[in-house]
Amino acid sequence: MTPEDLEHADLLLDLDGAVATITLNRPGARNAQRPRMWAGIARILEELGPEVRVVVLRGAGGTFSAGLDLGLLDPARPDEDGNFIAVLELDDQAIIDRIGIYQRPFALLADPRFITVAVVEGHAIGAGFQLALCCDLRIAAEDARFCMKEPALGLVPDLVGTKPLVEAVGYSRALEICASARVVSGAEAGEIGLAQVVVPPSELDAALAATVTALTAHPHGAVTATKALLREAPARSLDDQRLAERTAQVARFRALASG
Ligand code: ACO
Repeated sequence: MTPEDLEHADLLLDLDGAVATITLNRPGARNAQRPRMWAGIARILEELGPEVRVVVLRGAGGTFSAGLDLGLLDPARPDEDGNFIAVLELDDQAIIDRIGIYQRPFALLADPRFITVAVVEGHAIGAGFQLALCCDLRIAAEDARFCMKEPALGLVPDLVGTKPLVEAVGYSRALEICASARVVSGAEAGEIGLAQVVVPPSELDAALAATVTALTAHPHGAVTATKALLREAPARSLDDQRLAERTAQVARFRALASG
């Protein structure tokens, strides 16, 4: 993407060998998300080279993301991204298809080609919470504030966050968090399995560096294949998963034998 494309998408991209860092860069609006940002993230993820092993997602200005740009729900506000009220003029299938496009970057974070890490400080609200959930791992500041705000606004979380939330904390806790739209602190996120690393805000960068070092220490092909196995495990029967393990191992044997 060109610097102009990145600026239009409210994103920064840093490519450093095996690590790509995508920064939501709209701090004046607490990194509120618009369709142009989603399209930009999708394009970055699709265009990453094979050398990239870890994708870091973070927010500029001390907060992860305040979620959907609420201006998109205001029919009076002209915006080149349109507004979501106008979408209601479409038929149901067209709206479903449109949301499918918006979901694309969230789904791409599961791509086994790389491990995705969200660094969450400040707020991760609504679409921000879902973006963090779609990453493989979350490193959170103790005082981070996760909130699934959608039900409080009369909406459902529709940006791919419900499945990873249930998988991370179980159905009952996921429902309690969503239905109440309460704030989950970074400290609690660590206790319930939402965040894998929780540190004081001043230690986030050091924790990220240590995590990246650990995630890139071992053979890329083995890590990639293991991510694919683990990602697909919940949807498979035990027998199908066993078969997937055996099949993946044959590929690893062959790769090791051929050097
Ligand atoms: N959409 C658009 N603009 C936003 C958003 C948002 N989601 N969140 C914050 N902003 C803007 C504010 O309008 C304000 O702009 P201004 O300086 O031009 O007035 C600026 O960001 C700073 O916001 P403050 O509220 O002053 O910042 P503060 O740090 O005090 O609070 C907080 C941050 C808690 C995130 C608060 O802004 C907030 O509650 N935002 C709305 C969160 C929300 O409901 N998101 C939608 C969830 S549902 C979904 O994502 C599908």
